Amino acid sequence: MEFNESEFLIETIVPENELIISRTDLRGFITYANETFAQISGYLIDELVGNPHNLVRHPDMPKRVFKQMWETLLKGQKWEGVVKNLRKDRGYYWVHATISGVYKDGKLIEYKSIRTPIDYQTKLKHQKLYDEYRNLDNENIRRVIYT
Ligand SMILES: Cc1cc2nc3c(=O)[nH]c(=O)nc-3n(C[C@H](O)[C@H](O)[C@H](O)COP(=O)(O)O)c2cc1C
Repeated sequence: MEFNESEFLIETIVPENELIISRTDLRGFITYANETFAQISGYLIDELVGNPHNLVRHPDMPKRVFKQMWETLLKGQKWEGVVKNLRKDRGYYWVHATISGVYKDGKLIEYKSIRTPIDYQTKLKHQKLYDEYRNLDNENIRRVIYT
């Protein structure tokens, strides 16, 4: 897959009045996805459920963000952060995500995530921050080449 294809430049805007919701098992495999998640990510619900949540991982997202996310969840704490996600058509969408445990009889059984839209300034700030993290960690550098 070439990350400099034009498809990568197209943003899908998350509507203000809707929530993107998903649940995963303890390994991060999707067990539930709502219709809004399917629509915004460009997948069918059936294509999401049963797959690992990194299906929507965008190459601009630094590894350290997810490392910190999982460390927080494994401590039994709630994680909140800004995430750029990859659509099926290679476009992207930005969200503010809140991820926390789902408990049954006091036992952790799943994780759930609720996502809401963020504004332009927050997107710009995080695009710059995540570019910086990937640079520092020698991860892939986003390059747009017009030929
Ligand atoms: C409930 C839940 C929701 C998640 N949502 C996303 C998401 O929207 N986008 C994403 O890239 N990773 C999400 N993750 C993290 C992925 O499971 C995965 O750790 C991440 O995409 C990095 O991929 P990797 O672990 O294969 O490096 C979520 C994890 C959980 C537990």
